[in-house]
Amino acid sequence: MNNEQHTPHSPSAATQAPNVGAEASPGFRAPAEPPRLSAGTGNPAQHAAWREVDGYFNDAFLSEDAALVEARRSGTNTTMPGAEIARNQGAFLSMLTQISGARRVLEFGTLAGYSTICFARAVGERGAVTTLELSPENAEVARANFVRAGVEARVRVLLGPAAESAQHLIDQAVEPFDLVFIDADKPNNPKYLAAALELTRPGAVIVIDNVVRGGAVIEPGSVDPAVLGVRQVVSDIADDDRLEAVALQAVGEKGWDGLVVARRR
Ligand code: DHB
Ligand code: MG
Repeated sequence: MNNEQHTPHSPSAATQAPNVGAEASPGFRAPAEPPRLSAGTGNPAQHAAWREVDGYFNDAFLSEDAALVEARRSGTNTTMPGAEIARNQGAFLSMLTQISGARRVLEFGTLAGYSTICFARAVGERGAVTTLELSPENAEVARANFVRAGVEARVRVLLGPAAESAQHLIDQAVEPFDLVFIDADKPNNPKYLAAALELTRPGAVIVIDNVVRGGAVIEPGSVDPAVLGVRQVVSDIADDDRLEAVALQAVGEKGWDGLVVARRR
């Protein structure tokens, strides 16, 4: 790990300098300690407002058909209830797929297949999505959703540890993917990025979910393996001349989180 250069500074560091200065300049009042970063829910009123604003825009722009509604609902029957992407994030990924003209999508982490359906619809009839899932039970829930959504012919689910399935694709020298969505176990993000680079060409888009984690991504001294997995993949992207990237924080019905969108030069 080489987190040294990229170790985020403490959000409270900004309050330390003024505290020192306060000694020398009477009348200066140090700002109150900022709220401690918490795991995403924040203040409940704030969260309710985020949710309402999501509702406003989603009701104006988006409609989930019965298959997507059921894909979200059936997420409660997976190993990670409620972890599927938000409505607007699904629509954003569809749009990114269409804007980039992606035809072949690789997804790390299927769960109930909500995002898989978004990709499968966006790639069109001649496109294909390969999605990697550890749990046979989750895959079974997802397959039923692909049938309901009418995309089962475009979706291939590979069962097993995602790093192994990806290595299998590398060994088979499959046709490169145009877009990769990394949304599986977060400690393995660096491995998944490395595999994605083996499986794509210049121009490919790589998206990584859940990189903000309620602000925990910059919490000093974190030992959370998910946070460390995010920081390592951020550092790997930053150090890789083949990639340019941007991180977008999001608040909304899923709390406070965000995506990295990277593009292969
Ligand atoms: C978690 C993982 C996800 O992929 C997600 O979208 C939300 C939460 C998690 O690890 O808790
Ligand atoms: Mg996710």
